[in-house]
Amino acid sequence: MNLDFTGIIPSMPYILEGVKITLQIAALAAVFGFILGTVLALCKISKLKALIWLADFYTSIFRGTPLVLQLMIIYFASPQLFGFQIEGYWAAVLSFSLNSGAYISEIIRGGILAVDKGQKEAAMALGVPYTSMMANIILPQAYKNILPALMNEFITLTKESAIVTTIGVMDIMRRAYQVGGETFQYLEPLLFAGLIYYVLVMILTFIGKMVEKRLQHS
Ligand code: ARG
Repeated sequence: MNLDFTGIIPSMPYILEGVKITLQIAALAAVFGFILGTVLALCKISKLKALIWLADFYTSIFRGTPLVLQLMIIYFASPQLFGFQIEGYWAAVLSFSLNSGAYISEIIRGGILAVDKGQKEAAMALGVPYTSMMANIILPQAYKNILPALMNEFITLTKESAIVTTIGVMDIMRRAYQVGGETFQYLEPLLFAGLIYYVLVMILTFIGKMVEKRLQHS
């Protein structure tokens, strides 16, 4: 094996540019997925059978099929689905949000169920309305407990976002692959991309640990 990074040094800034796209897609999907996940989790713990069934069905579909398939359906079938061709970037944000919402709903549901029953009983005894009890008492505690799991989901999204390369989005992965094709040298740019993902994940893990520590004291 002969490794020679000198040939790809001029392309390194180009590959690094992809970090922005990668993190943007992961961050947007995390935010939308979190909102969707909260709604789904509330459906799952509700007393309405139809809501529970709908949320469970949604989750099973998005967790039961590959993310790359969901991405491709949304991107390539968008003219049939929506009547127009969606941009790759937005197809990525949409499919990752819908997918992550399913995973996050399970995390949040678990978090809500883990909050001590006494909290709910006390709130109900004091006549706190359901919405207010959820928004001000149960959910804040649930969110605090599930923070590590949510951070984990964000890390998963960051790495999984590499599949957007299949629909031509210029993320880290696609740029590395492109540089490989142009220089006829694949190993070095791919290793460089791997290093970038690794460093990103290490940084995110570190941030997650810091936030967790902070919250433990609050
Ligand atoms: N590779 C898995 C799949 O295609 C990852 C799914 C995304 N995971 C997640 N936590 N959002 O099904």
